[in-house]
Amino acid sequence: MKIQIPATSANLGAGFDALGLALTFYNYVEMEECDEVDISSADGVEVPTDENNLIYVSAKDLYAVCGRKLSGLRLRQHSNIPMARGLGSSSACIIAGLVGANKMLGDPLTKDDLVDLAAQIEGHPDNTAPALLGGIVTAVFDGRKVHWVKQEVYTKLRFAAIIPDFELRTEDARACLPKEVSHKDAVFNLSRAALFSASLLTGKFENLRTAVHDKLHQPYRMELIPDCREVFDIAYTHGAYAAYISGAGPTVMAIVDEENKYFAGKMKFSLDNAGLGGWQVHEFGIDNVGTQIL
Ligand code: HSE
Repeated sequence: MKIQIPATSANLGAGFDALGLALTFYNYVEMEECDEVDISSADGVEVPTDENNLIYVSAKDLYAVCGRKLSGLRLRQHSNIPMARGLGSSSACIIAGLVGANKMLGDPLTKDDLVDLAAQIEGHPDNTAPALLGGIVTAVFDGRKVHWVKQEVYTKLRFAAIIPDFELRTEDARACLPKEVSHKDAVFNLSRAALFSASLLTGKFENLRTAVHDKLHQPYRMELIPDCREVFDIAYTHGAYAAYISGAGPTVMAIVDEENKYFAGKMKFSLDNAGLGGWQVHEFGIDNVGTQIL
């Protein structure tokens, strides 16, 4: 079986650990039952080839939940989504493992079960849920269960991922966050997170720039992402509706109108001129389907 899993962009500014959307950019995993662990990369991207492989671990978890033992798996990975860049590469592995294993067992678990299990493995649902479901997903993880809504988005917006040539591990990007925040900052964020989805879904795009501001994670993570502020400024100079740190970073996501046709080219030109040639720009749409077995 061959599984297609979309990249995801989480947080969407103020919706820390709660909002995420799926992008038209995919990893592929070929998966077969087998008596040994046989894992390979189809494209030269280095992946763990032992039992620590996240796709394998997730498949094994699903088997355990169903009271079965996974004795082996043949996996061949096509890893287009760059790792540790805030585009949901680990969630894509978790979802591939769960969806593939569920199929191999004859689909004993429902979509809701898979959303819950994925969040339990990842610790938060904002990448895993849209990777499975597609669209924009609003999700609350109560530690056991995810309460979620998926909304399909048909929009003229494009998402330009501005991806640097360095990695930032989610673990490090979470370790830099404060343990407590003020009531004022909490209100600042919750109002903007709500404004984001309402504005995206109703086409009130002029609100997005305000909606992506937050006080819970981006100000702290910017310190870990050299030139991040300058990348934001350049994106706004070229007419982006909004720019935010995608997931835990370091990718910066710019939301642009499809009529802003040359955004990616102009962005890249300006980045190069500013001495920021290590940043690449790739434009995607929203994937409304989620993970599919092809
Ligand atoms: N909500 C998560 C974070 C996404 O910002 O840390 C990254 O996995």
